[in-house]
Amino acid sequence: MTDQPTVVSVGGDAPYDVTVGRGVLDRIDAALPSATRKVLVVHPPTLSAKAAELRERLQASSAREVLLAEIPDAESGKRVEVAAFCWQVMGQADFTRTDAVVGFGGGAVTDLAGFVAATWLRGVALVQVPTTVLGMVDAAVGGKTGINTAEGKNLVGAFWPPRAVICDLDLLDTLSANERVAGFAEVVKAGFIWYPEILDLIEADPVAAVDPASPAFRRCIELAIEMKARVVGEDLREAGLREVLNYGHTLGHAIEHAERYQWRHGAAISIGMMYAAELSRLAGRLSDEAVDRHRRILEMLGLPLSYRAGAWPQLLATMQRDKKSRGGMLRFIVLDDIARPTVLQAPDESLLFAAYQEIGQ
Ligand code: GLY
Repeated sequence: MTDQPTVVSVGGDAPYDVTVGRGVLDRIDAALPSATRKVLVVHPPTLSAKAAELRERLQASSAREVLLAEIPDAESGKRVEVAAFCWQVMGQADFTRTDAVVGFGGGAVTDLAGFVAATWLRGVALVQVPTTVLGMVDAAVGGKTGINTAEGKNLVGAFWPPRAVICDLDLLDTLSANERVAGFAEVVKAGFIWYPEILDLIEADPVAAVDPASPAFRRCIELAIEMKARVVGEDLREAGLREVLNYGHTLGHAIEHAERYQWRHGAAISIGMMYAAELSRLAGRLSDEAVDRHRRILEMLGLPLSYRAGAWPQLLATMQRDKKSRGGMLRFIVLDDIARPTVLQAPDESLLFAAYQEIGQ
């Protein structure tokens, strides 16, 4: 089914469009540079049939040669060995500087594909085609690319904005409800830090909000992308504003680490947002009603709100280590009100613990 797509523009030094709609996958061809003769489509095993279809379509509509690189899904795809496999495929195909990479998959796949594009011959064109909610509203937009090392997540990477991002909502129809809802945590985040209309839509009908067939779902996705586009268009390299995207992520990342990355990102971020809201309240910034709104909305979606009470020392140690490896002080994004994010720098440990007691169980 094809309908009228929405185009969101990302500004900055290397502007590009994010196209959202049904049946927009065909736009890849036009998004690739005209000089491109070879295209590497990086995809996970679950999308191998769709990637083969994409290759047929691209080869039929242009004189381009399309190579497929199937990589492991999720975090196990974000390894240097996997990047080396893609470099080998490119090297053997005489991939030149005018050729291009397409990232076709969830957030981990687009992160890896972006890193491969950023590093091959010091950078070739990249088109991102995210196939999950999380990928569409977060990972594929904003130019962050990278891989993990034994020491931590995303420690190696580059800012490498894509030429285009194509969000074909048809691709979400086969996603499991769990995966869709977990990805929706980042949409909820966009509601709390930027566009409260998202929160209104969820409260009005939480079932429709996460149903890809509903107009409410599409509107939520578009608003979340619009928010990300505005933030990264202004601050690609996270020198300031982009940090607001970390709402719920300081504790969320520590929970993901404690769970050995077996949890879905959105589940950890949901707890992290609940924590950030409690921290905002205890710091005298956010009202009780706004904190209750967090609880109500996350609960409506079936996202988790609490974590093991006894885990605090471990979580705090992880947050401290993360802070050290990134060379800064412990910082949290908190809210002065809905849609008014700000930074809380070096908060007292007793305040941090008090906020955790509100969500520990
Ligand atoms: N996912 C956070 C960022 O793109 O900055």
